[in-house]
Order: sequence, then C-alpha cells, then structure tokens
Amino acid sequence: MSLRGLYTLMKNKLLSTMRRADISPKGLFDPYYVPSTLLHRERELDTIGGIYADSYSDDYGINCLVHGISGVGNTAFSRYFLTKVVPESFDAYTVYVDAKNKDTLEIVSEMSDKIHRQTNTPVTFAFDLDVLWLQLKRTASASPRKGVFVIDNIDESNEEIYSKVARLSKEIKASTIGVLNSHDYRLLTKGNASHMAYDTELPLDTYTQSQLYDIVRMRVEDTFPHGLTDEIVRYVTDICVEFDASKPKTSVEALKALWPMASKGQEIDSDTVRAATAHISTFAHDEDYMDTIDTISMNDFMTLLVLEALTEHLMRYKTETYIDRQTLSEIVQVKCEEQGVRYAEEDIEKSLQTLIFQSIVFESGYSRNLLYVLVPPEILYDSAMTLRRELARRK
Ligand SMILES: Nc1ncnc2c1ncn2[C@@H]1O[C@H](COP(=O)(O)OP(=O)(O)O)[C@@H](O)[C@H]1O
Ligand SMILES: [Mg+2]
Repeated sequence: MSLRGLYTLMKNKLLSTMRRADISPKGLFDPYYVPSTLLHRERELDTIGGIYADSYSDDYGINCLVHGISGVGNTAFSRYFLTKVVPESFDAYTVYVDAKNKDTLEIVSEMSDKIHRQTNTPVTFAFDLDVLWLQLKRTASASPRKGVFVIDNIDESNEEIYSKVARLSKEIKASTIGVLNSHDYRLLTKGNASHMAYDTELPLDTYTQSQLYDIVRMRVEDTFPHGLTDEIVRYVTDICVEFDASKPKTSVEALKALWPMASKGQEIDSDTVRAATAHISTFAHDEDYMDTIDTISMNDFMTLLVLEALTEHLMRYKTETYIDRQTLSEIVQVKCEEQGVRYAEEDIEKSLQTLIFQSIVFESGYSRNLLYVLVPPEILYDSAMTLRRELARRK
C-alpha cells in the first residue's frame, strides 16, 4: 500500500472514531436531553426569539405560555430556547425548573438555589417558604443581568407558584416561560376564575409524517452506533403517526427499546419494532383477529388469498417491513395459478380495501403503495390459511 493510501486509511479511521465518540445513548435516556438542532420548529423559535428580543431591548418583562399535547416536544422546545438560543444571543442568565410532582417549597427552593448560583450570589440556607421567596426575590431583583425562567409542567397543583413567579418577573423585568400540556392549558386558562399570569402564548403543533421521520432519523444518528435502516425508521414513524398522534416522544420510547439490541450489533427486524411499539398499538387477542378475518372473509376466497400472500412475504423477509402493491400482485398471481382460480387485478385491490378498512393491513404515510401490518404476520397467515382451506373444503 502506498504511503498516501495508508494515510487516507488512517485518517478515515480516525474520523470515524471521532464521529462514533459523539454517539451516545444519553440522547435517548436523558429526559432533559436537548438535541443539537431542534428540527422543524424554526417558526416557533423565531416567534419566541422575537418576543424575547423586544422585551430585552426595551427593558420590560414578558411572560409566555408554551403548550402542546404532551410528548410533542414542549420540554425539548423550551430547553432548547433556554440553553442554546438565549445564551448565544442575550446577556441573560437562565433558570429551568421542572415542577412536576414537586410542592411549592421544593419549587421555590430549587429556583432560589439556581438563581443564586447563576448570579454568583452566596445563599443563606433557609427552609421556610416565606424566607426562601424573599431571598429569591431580593437576589433576582439585584442582578444587573436579566433572568429568563422556565417552569415546566405547570398544572393545577403548581399553577399558583407559576403565577407568583410570573408576576415577580414582570416587576423585576425578567421573563418567565410557563410550559404545560394542552390538557392543563385548557383547564387553567379557559376557566372563569383563571388567574394565570401571562402576556402571550405559543402553541406547538404536532409534526407531519416527514417531519417526524426527520426527527427520528436524527435521533438514530445521534444514538445508534450501527444505525438503523430506512425501512425500520419508517416503520417506527408510520406506527407512531397512525396510532399516537405523531408524538416524537413515542418514537423516542421505541428507539430506547431497540437500543440494547442494536448496540450489540443485532439486526433489528419488523418483529422487534412491533414489540417495541406494542403499547401504543394494543390490540385485542389473537382469537379476535381470527373472528374479524372470519367475518370479512365469508365466502371471500380472494381476500384470504391476498392476506396470505402479503403475510407470507413479510414472514419470509423479516427486515422488510413493507410490501409494495406490485410485489403483492405478483405473488397473488402465482397463488391463483396454483389454486386454479381466476386472477384479476381489480379483485386484489378490492380485497386490499377490505383489509385496510378493517385495520388489518395499513398503507404507509410515505407512500400508499407500501403496505404493512401490526399483528405479527405469522398469526395473520395462520388465520388466513386455516379459513381459506375451510372455505375450499366447504365448496
Ligand atoms: N423538534 C424536535 N427535534 C428533535 N427532537 C425533538 C423535537 N421535538 C421533540 N423532540 C424529542 O422528542 C421527545 C419528547 O419531547 P419532550 O420535549 O420530552 O415532550 P413533552 O415535554 O412535550 O412531553 C424528546 O426526546 C425530545 O428531545
Ligand atoms: Mg415535558
């Protein structure tokens, strides 16, 4: 090997080790993990950045509520703004408190603690709520730098302390971002006796199929040493879009379940993905499936044949999570010849529509041409086979 060749080889090896060093499961297992880029939230980041920039330059405090269905990325969004955007663009100190399952004393003391640390002010220990609040207030007001506070997971149990912080931040020209899920948002802001203190709000929408795919892909690249195939990432995304309102949290949970196997270099196949997402696509027992198939296939030989062909393919190719319509037609055609039945393209489509309507077969959100199942194909295959044979015997 030439010297140059050796040099290139070593360089590439070094680069790949360096890249590998970035990969860490922290991105999957740390609930406060902030992704290096927050995908598909440009508009929302612009909005909140603009709101905050105005308050910063004109020297007033602003309180904003960030809300969306839980799992959509409320925490990720507010933490990204707090830890990446604010420090880069403003001379302000930041404090994040997760209020979930904490009482007022815990929230105030955590906040006070963080404010003291951020402003380099020595803290006198106190365990009394009033004393702690006074300390917090005094230190925050005395700071020459502005503060940006995030209180995550506001609900009925801690709404009062959020409002108190929000009012204080107005007084001292700091800003507070309250983060809450859609349910608590409706509960707390729409009631008659609402005391929620906020000037503005920023709703976070769910992602589209392709946006969710990008997010999952990025997480795989950040965390999986051997990567995952496109098919697998698509399958995870499809299932999450179909059954769980496109929440990235669900996809990340699925990735967590796949991680131990993938990191050992084990190949991830459709069975593994189904197992990892079983909790969102919970189905009735296998026998119920038999019933559904039984009903829809009353005298419908073709539908059984189509289901049999489709599941047979998925059983044979475990890492293929989809079958396309063309491949399916070809397999059905062969089966028809074997069985000596008439083959017609329209019949296949009709059968597919039945199966899709009954939620036995699903069309991918990427392409209607790609079909997948959620019940292990073996189970569907067995039911289809059994019923088809019975039908043949009866005739
Ligand atoms: N735009 C995004 N880009 C990258 N990752 C995201 C994005 N939105 C959400 N996530 C990830 O999805 C998961 C769930 O988000 P999280 O903020 O915990 O949800 P919530 O607080 O709404 O329940 C987290 O792992 C988060 O990092
Ligand atoms: Mg959260």
